[in-house]
Amino acid sequence: MYPNFAEISMDSQVQELDGGSHKVFLVRLNGRKVVYKLINSISDQPTRSAIKKILRNIDRPIFEYFMDEIPQQKYRDRSFTKYSDIELRTLKEWRKRGIPCTNVLEKHDDEIIYDYLDADKYSNILERIKFKEKEFNELIKTYDMIRFEAKKDQDKTLLHSDAHLRNFLYSESLNKAMAIDPGLKVKDNMNFEQTDAYINLFFSYCLTELNSPNVNKYLSIFSDSLSRKEKDSVLKINKPLSVFANIYFDVRTKTISFIKGEQIISPAQLCSYEKIDLVNNIFS
Ligand SMILES: Nc1ncnc2c1ncn2[C@@H]1O[C@H](COP(=O)(O)OP(=O)(O)OP(=O)(O)O)[C@@H](O)[C@H]1O
Ligand SMILES: [Mg+2]
Repeated sequence: MYPNFAEISMDSQVQELDGGSHKVFLVRLNGRKVVYKLINSISDQPTRSAIKKILRNIDRPIFEYFMDEIPQQKYRDRSFTKYSDIELRTLKEWRKRGIPCTNVLEKHDDEIIYDYLDADKYSNILERIKFKEKEFNELIKTYDMIRFEAKKDQDKTLLHSDAHLRNFLYSESLNKAMAIDPGLKVKDNMNFEQTDAYINLFFSYCLTELNSPNVNKYLSIFSDSLSRKEKDSVLKINKPLSVFANIYFDVRTKTISFIKGEQIISPAQLCSYEKIDLVNNIFS
């Protein structure tokens, strides 16, 4: 009944989906549309010059140190990778508790097969000029259900560890926001309230990034879904980076851009003053 991993061949490959950090394919198996994800499949080039390796070793601790200033990164484990076991466990728990989410058909090491959802990413839906009230309310409903269940158990691993707008899909036929991709590890040494606040801030920043005239409305709806205490916890951590972090990221980004001959985005841009102000105004 379930697709067999051995049956997945390049022949059955239909289309590569735009996975951010992983290879994600839409494939057809036994006539059924499924999504096939290979976790951590984008590996480093095996032949890297020694000098690059040395630079990397020196840079890594500094990078990690300053990354910790970025609110969106602060709650995440330093490994910066996704784990299929974490993803599976969270999805299973969510499903058990009635949270709309992707259905895992099979898992084998770092390969996961999901039921295909005929659904569009919120990053696409919310960028339309029209105010997508019905769809957005569904997103908040799913996001809230996740937080409700996590709070009930005080289990931070039940929160969405990577709550950006490409990790929620809107299904028109079900009129539901389906959560996908909760495979990041949250820090062990951070309590539930802090982790929740950092994820809420991360989610808010994602809303501010939308290229839409309705950003303020979406942010206000989200803000209204939180209690005063929860909003205050977000406000407390909604702070700009230190001067040192800004200088470090600026120099690092310019150096890498120069070496690679292409523009790369500085991590510091993840928390610009505009974003901080916008969230401050709406949550106050
Ligand atoms: N079950 C599914 N049904 C339909 N489309 C899906 C499904 N799972 C994933 N996708 C599509 O594939 C894309 C990438 O999947 P996923 O988020 O799991 O991979 P990722 O590489 O970890 O992404 P990122 O690192 O950007 O968060 C999703 O944004 C979505 O468009
Ligand atoms: Mg994703």
